[in-house]
Amino acid sequence: MMELISYLGYLLATCLFIFGLKRLGSPNTARQGNIISACGMFIGVLSTFIQTGFEGFQLILIGIIVGAVIGVLAAKLVAMTAMPEMVALLNGFGGGSSLLVAFGAYLVAPQIGAVTAVITVVSIVIGGLTLTGSIVAWAKLAGTISTRPFSFFGQQVLNALILLGLIAAIVIFSMDAMSHITLLYAVIGVALVLGVLSVMAIGGGDMPVVIALLNSYSGIAAAAAGSVIGNVLLIVAGLLVGASGLILTSIMCKAMNRSLANVLFGGFGSVSSSSSQSDKDQGEVNPITADDAYFVLEAARSVVIVPGYGMAVAQAQHSVRELGDILEEHGVNVRYAIHPVAGRMPGHMNVLLAESNVPYEQLFEMDDINPIIDNVDVCLVIGANDVVNPDALEDEASPIYGMPIIEVSRSQTVFVMKRSMNPGFAGIQNPLFFKDNTRMLFGDAKESLQALIGEFKE
Ligand code: TAP
Repeated sequence: MMELISYLGYLLATCLFIFGLKRLGSPNTARQGNIISACGMFIGVLSTFIQTGFEGFQLILIGIIVGAVIGVLAAKLVAMTAMPEMVALLNGFGGGSSLLVAFGAYLVAPQIGAVTAVITVVSIVIGGLTLTGSIVAWAKLAGTISTRPFSFFGQQVLNALILLGLIAAIVIFSMDAMSHITLLYAVIGVALVLGVLSVMAIGGGDMPVVIALLNSYSGIAAAAAGSVIGNVLLIVAGLLVGASGLILTSIMCKAMNRSLANVLFGGFGSVSSSSSQSDKDQGEVNPITADDAYFVLEAARSVVIVPGYGMAVAQAQHSVRELGDILEEHGVNVRYAIHPVAGRMPGHMNVLLAESNVPYEQLFEMDDINPIIDNVDVCLVIGANDVVNPDALEDEASPIYGMPIIEVSRSQTVFVMKRSMNPGFAGIQNPLFFKDNTRMLFGDAKESLQALIGEFKE
């Protein structure tokens, strides 16, 4: 009977996961999707307790309470701008848990068959490299270590040797798992090193793809761990994370116009090339004040707002919405153009604009805005830099060459809000700032927006 109840619970939890994932697909319903998925997880945990007859309940409860307190505190304390780093770490913890589950299951019952032995090693390897790979991704995003790709002589050979070693370990372990605990310790060590080496070799500019991929890995490791301990729900949940992570990886690769192989083995990202146009003298920029910008905006018929990471830093999303509303009241057609890798995590701009209740119909994807951008009177670039850098289209020596951008320079006038001439994430100068139709509105994005709003209100 208990078995039946727990399986029905698993079924319900699976449905809630799928339903929740579907709702996560749109900023309007994402919050609801999160709550639905969390309910699914609660039912899943409860069903597991029922299935195992509440064995070891006290110890697990202590773990849940400690984890919940840390989780709530971390979620409350972390700044919105540090959310990508937190996501990277959470992926890593997912991988680490799968490693521990698979290893723990082996320690409890080392007499396992060949298939379980193979899956145990797979879970440990993917879980381990996800753990340390995610920690390196976190450090690169947080700027704790250099975002440059780190490579050394013979790296590819070492990687090939590690791969061969792991295959050999799987074969040996599957033949006689019980007497090879030392080998398993070695596999854990190698997996942890592999995670560090593989993510260190990737430049900071490619971190969007890496994080999506690590997210997928954490799901695959969880599915393998679920298969080791025979838990259907862990397999299903792991596969859902694995599959959605792979879809996200493919979307991110497309957004950056890179193949996955090129990201993983290309070894470039945040390098500024010496022959790049961005290093050459670009001339002078044209600054503008808020009151002058106001006159241009007031006369405009269509305005496209292009948010970037700086909007997140300035926490300017509410001011952006306020200015958007005021412009609409003045009869201006206002649209928001979202670049897929603007900010520091997938959907970063969507989340912020949804938080300030920007109407969903006003949000446009890059591919929908570029064909009509010639007819736009003003493009208001708010703390965006790399995602509007024309070098990505024009300068083959640029590290971001090939990445599709929002082509704001084709509009009649471009206002760029940023604090200085400092570069963005890719570390390169942006020729857009020097174009004849560009005006720089220097200052914190929120303060500049408030100044513009003040002008309209006067
Ligand atoms: P960035 O190119 O990073 O530029 C952000 C700009 O915001 C900076 O130039 C900065 O200039 C400005 N800024 C910072 N604080 C500001 C403030 N308080 N007020 C006004 N401006 C401020 O941003 P982007 O255009 O959104 O491009 C995203 C970059 O991050 C891409 O290179 C992308 O590959 C990378 N990346 C993306 C992700 C994902 S998944 N989205 C993940 C990792 C990396 P000042 O300092 O002069 O103000």
